[in-house]
Amino acid sequence: MKEEICKWIAKKLVNVSEQEVITVMEIPPEDYMGDFALPCFSFAKVLHKNPAGIAQELNTSLEDVQEELGIEKSEAVNGYLNIFMKRDKYVEYWINKIKSPDFGLKKTGTGKTICMDYSSPNIAKNFHVGHLRTTVIGNSLYRIYKKLGFHVVRINHLGDWGTQFGKLIVAYKKWSDEETVKEKGIEELLRIYVKFNTEAEKDPELLSQARNWFVKMEQNDEEAIGIWNWFKEISLKEYSRVYDLLGITFDSYAGESFYRDKVPALVEELKSKGLLKKSQGADIVDLSEYDMPPCLITKSDGSSIYHSRDIAAVLYRKETYHFDRCIYVTGMEQSLHFKQVFKAIEVMGYNWADTLIHVPYGLVSLEGAKLSTRSGNIIYAEDILNESIERAFQAIQDKNPDLKEKEQTAEKIGIGAVIFHDLFNQRIKNVDFSWEAVLSFDGTTGPYVQYTYARARSIMRKNSKEADYENIDFHALTEDMGYALIKALSGYEEAVKKAAERYEPSVIARFLVTVAVAFNKFYHECPILQAEESTKQARIVLTDLAQRVILDACGLLGMACPEEM
Ligand code: ARG
Repeated sequence: MKEEICKWIAKKLVNVSEQEVITVMEIPPEDYMGDFALPCFSFAKVLHKNPAGIAQELNTSLEDVQEELGIEKSEAVNGYLNIFMKRDKYVEYWINKIKSPDFGLKKTGTGKTICMDYSSPNIAKNFHVGHLRTTVIGNSLYRIYKKLGFHVVRINHLGDWGTQFGKLIVAYKKWSDEETVKEKGIEELLRIYVKFNTEAEKDPELLSQARNWFVKMEQNDEEAIGIWNWFKEISLKEYSRVYDLLGITFDSYAGESFYRDKVPALVEELKSKGLLKKSQGADIVDLSEYDMPPCLITKSDGSSIYHSRDIAAVLYRKETYHFDRCIYVTGMEQSLHFKQVFKAIEVMGYNWADTLIHVPYGLVSLEGAKLSTRSGNIIYAEDILNESIERAFQAIQDKNPDLKEKEQTAEKIGIGAVIFHDLFNQRIKNVDFSWEAVLSFDGTTGPYVQYTYARARSIMRKNSKEADYENIDFHALTEDMGYALIKALSGYEEAVKKAAERYEPSVIARFLVTVAVAFNKFYHECPILQAEESTKQARIVLTDLAQRVILDACGLLGMACPEEM
């Protein structure tokens, strides 16, 4: 349908390909703008005509082929060609398309590999809400790309190397002991780390002790490595609880420490390419030509650093996974870091530097208050998730105490609510976390979408038989609300594509809200189970499709949908 129309338009427009027409063809946001709309602005240059004229000409010649293309009417408005389809045809076309198992999603990623670097918390520190964001965004992008056929390698680039571990070892020896660390875990490590920083302000000698311990770590000193390994184990155990709650796994946990023995080879490579410079005892790559501060490679004591470990990491990944793209999901405060790393790869002569992509996101605050480890305003991701589950459980107790499987349902709602809230706005925007906004059952929330799904499921259960896709009375779905729902569902493929192109799960979250709103209107205005038989079965088909798409799209965000709630 859309393809046919685009093909026809491309034939009319000399020097414009069918693909170009398909790319710009839109599904308009409002019904009065038609079912499809073609903005003619991008053709103006090649055709040497103004957009309004192009739209007008297309509109006139379209009259001859309306019938053939299933078009009811068209109009030229402000440089757009708005096309209204014959509803029967439109309904039939989309129902058939949506019902196919993968919804006609083009597998644009087949044969291609993406390395997805996300979550990556810093060992011995709490898994805070900022890391929750990279985890949730990265997981969603992983699912979106997988859906498109990409092979995605999920990498948890743990922050498990660096001077801070020297500090921790000093702090541990001075102010803690095995028993307490065993008992309290990360909380204790965090306490002594904070103490180290306050004490070091008074006594800078502590800093040089910490540096020495880190140098020992880099030299594989047995005691230093032993303590570090132990801290790492403790941390991973804590993080795995968060990952379990979110249902997230990784393909690789190769963190910063994995690359420590790969930095010397990098240093050699940089030297041989004439890119290494000495600056105050340290080794750097000068990036002043590109208006960037230098990229630090090794410190004056010879130890590696975040930057050099990242460069070594991406070289290793290229060699190991042969990726077509490597994506990094971190807070936007790391933008400069990635610019430097990517530039270093470029100046080293690797022509794939432009396949490295930083996907930044905004800050999280909690009901208006800024979160920071230093000020002690620390929020553990695990606490947020557990509290959300607890609150969801309370809501079930209040509203639907007879529900079966209350605990499992509360978990799906609580976790889903946090995920959806994180993903609903463009990732670059800051997120203010408020329980009100996270767990509300109406509005743009996870529970609202999940509730819509449960409602559709309940209708399906109440219907005596499965949806019958063989004998659909398409005409029964042409009234406004059914039609609007089909239109909403038809946007799925486009939403997935856009989300992937922009690294933006919010496109999917917004699509879900549009579908949920359309479904609920349909549900309220069109009796389903009470309708006359052929209409009833057609509406059941539509209900079935709606729940399938909602479930699938929620899956792309990484959230589950309970059958009942
Ligand atoms: N550990 C870092 C942090 O918590 C994030 C690491 C991101 N990935 C990378 N390859 N640098 O800020």
